[in-house]
Amino acid sequence: MLEDKLVHTLAQKHHDDHEMTGEDYDDLKHQQEMEEELYEDDEMEEEAEDVPEMELLAMMDAEEDSLHVVRRLFYSGADLVSIETKLLGRNALASLREQGFVWLDGLFDGDVIQAAREAALQLAESGEMIPAGMVRLEDDPFRDRKARDDVICWLHKDQHPATHPALDAVLDKLQLIQRDIASVIRLKGQAEYQLAVYKGNGGHYERHRDAFPIDDDADEEQRRVTVVVYLTDELETNVGGGLKIFRPLGHEQIVESAAGRVMIFLSGVVDHEVLPVFNMRAAVSAWIR
Ligand code: OGA
Ligand code: NI
Repeated sequence: MLEDKLVHTLAQKHHDDHEMTGEDYDDLKHQQEMEEELYEDDEMEEEAEDVPEMELLAMMDAEEDSLHVVRRLFYSGADLVSIETKLLGRNALASLREQGFVWLDGLFDGDVIQAAREAALQLAESGEMIPAGMVRLEDDPFRDRKARDDVICWLHKDQHPATHPALDAVLDKLQLIQRDIASVIRLKGQAEYQLAVYKGNGGHYERHRDAFPIDDDADEEQRRVTVVVYLTDELETNVGGGLKIFRPLGHEQIVESAAGRVMIFLSGVVDHEVLPVFNMRAAVSAWIR
């Protein structure tokens, strides 16, 4: 990872400096230098930490397109011929690999989506969800807390507050989707599910990426695939809240948050932004690793 590389490069630089200058000085001089170097160390580490996430990602992309990096986590083409999937067709999985994203309609029953939406809105009204900006950073280190206007709660099957059968049904289907995705990309088998509700009034979520691009199969931390199910009311218009995605590189497109639509993308690859929302917008996101 470039982040590691940055740190490594800095460490290497310190090492070189030391070798170049450390040799022919008397003790006092040497000590002074060591102190200076320590000071520099601090400064440099701070600089490395201070690189804004989007800038770091842009640097990584410039080095190698993140799609190419993450694609190395996919099984090779030959293995794909014989896969059998439950919900996602081979074309959808191929798009995920080739483009980094794909969206599908018709995987969910309209009634389930409507019931899950009602449950979501009730939860949002009940005060049981919290502003995403207040989520503890260690629970969600990838979030830019100031950059989003939704309320959220984590969902666990059969567990409060997501005890609603319709939300459970959404989680069940997400698990099947996860299984299908696992037939093409190496996964650790972990997932987190989050319900997010935007209450309208132009709330949005700034451009961001859900993970760093990685090709290290041993990594357990970075999210590998994001799956979002839109709990939108079929009859409502003027909802806003489309998902703008910045892929292929240099292009943008908007995926409308249509009822029951499932948006799947590689978490470390696709920059995305939730456009201003003018009517209640509910969605369940799954991050799978
Ligand atoms: C997210 C996110 C997209 C959406 O929660 O990280 O970007 O369309 N969600 O809700
Ligand atoms: Ni996101």
